[in-house]
Amino acid sequence: MRVIEKISEAGALAQRIREAGKTIGLVPTMGDLHQGHLSLIRQARKDCQQVFISIFVNPTQFGPSEDYNSYPRDLQRDKRLAEKEGVDIIFAPSPGEMYPEGYRTFVEVEKLSEPLCGGSRPGHFRGVVTIVTKLFNIIRPHIAYFGQKDAQQAIIIKRMAHDLNMDIEIKVLPIVRERDGLALSSRNQYLNEAERRAAPILYKSLQEAKRMIETEERRSRNIIHRMEEMIKREKLAKMDYVAIVDGETLEERERAEGKVLFALAVWIGRTRLIDNLALELD
Ligand code: PAF
Repeated sequence: MRVIEKISEAGALAQRIREAGKTIGLVPTMGDLHQGHLSLIRQARKDCQQVFISIFVNPTQFGPSEDYNSYPRDLQRDKRLAEKEGVDIIFAPSPGEMYPEGYRTFVEVEKLSEPLCGGSRPGHFRGVVTIVTKLFNIIRPHIAYFGQKDAQQAIIIKRMAHDLNMDIEIKVLPIVRERDGLALSSRNQYLNEAERRAAPILYKSLQEAKRMIETEERRSRNIIHRMEEMIKREKLAKMDYVAIVDGETLEERERAEGKVLFALAVWIGRTRLIDNLALELD
């Protein structure tokens, strides 16, 4: 396994791999690899002849009062995990390599970046889409892998790749959960014991929404109300948003029908967690 820090080196190596007729899979990450990332790497390993992962805590997707400085970083541990999964190349550039002095260009996906997490984290998706575009241009993978946990991110990246005519397949893989339903996230490690016990409230409220659908309740207002009630009952939880939206346009839906996304963000203490459930209903 090679670890590359320079854009020129990563780009040249990817070019040689393509010229040799081999397929490239890319798993973009911010490091602190967990089972969610490993599930993406395993899929890339199955699909592609060469697997790149990027490890880069991207400053442009963090707001000024967010956790950029404290975001967990442990390249040695990530290297060990990646090597075990058969990753071929880790691309781990520095912030200065990706955003040198004089950097001025950003990529924005209109509309889709506004609701849900876009409302609470202004500029977040502009930063995500910009870094993903740069990674795609440097590595030019055949397939890139993202997790369904960041459902809005995945929808936005698919739109960007389509709109900008990128010849890259975007694969979105299922959420990986703890036994009690908590979706895996690097930010789970910020939770203290009591908060960790409270955190499955996101999953539980989604399960309740599913149960309501199964009993033929389709009015979004009623489902959201029930989910909000559950979250309010959990003392350590503070709701950011709960929404039922179209699974492609992210527009609010009055009724849960067709391709829908149940999405929520909840503060557990000082940690903001997200989760979602994507359904195709009649
Ligand atoms: O999902 C993430 O970890 C990040 O948003 C990504 C896609 C690696 C871009 O920095």
